[in-house]
Amino acid sequence: MSTDAIVLLKNDHKEIKKTFNAFRKLGDGAHKEKGRLVKRMIELLTVHTYIENEVMYPRVRELLPEVEDDVLESYEEHHVADVLVMELSMMKPTDERFTAKTTVLIENVEHHIDEEEQEWFPEVRAGLSRKTLQELGAEMLQAKKKAPKKPSQPSALKKTIDAVIA
Ligand SMILES: [Fe+2]
Ligand SMILES: [Fe+2]
Repeated sequence: MSTDAIVLLKNDHKEIKKTFNAFRKLGDGAHKEKGRLVKRMIELLTVHTYIENEVMYPRVRELLPEVEDDVLESYEEHHVADVLVMELSMMKPTDERFTAKTTVLIENVEHHIDEEEQEWFPEVRAGLSRKTLQELGAEMLQAKKKAPKKPSQPSALKKTIDAVIA
């Protein structure tokens, strides 16, 4: 099985987008299904952000200084998503702002995924060897095993906070 870092991350993106599209299809009400989907969305995003923050972003920044600005912008976008995810995780699907907040999260993350896939992952693909990308992917699979699944777990926020505030 390929452990190419970019392939792995794009597969995650596909899973994440599935929950977005399913959420959009739900009508008003549908609270139970909305709650279930948002819980799944939050888990996928928490794990994905963690492996990018822990492995992909710092290693790419170190190996490819020319994409550093993109990595820094991406950290900021993770931070915005983290805040929304944290707030959503404390809300009930019946809360007045639940759907609005989920919609804003979806819009933000879709924009972020597009920037990764269209703008700087191609530069990473061009700039790093296949072997390095395989190694990065293998490291991310390892990191996934200990990744937090809930935003309330301290390790979920730490790296982004370090990158954004430090
Ligand atoms: Fe990201
Ligand atoms: Fe990503």
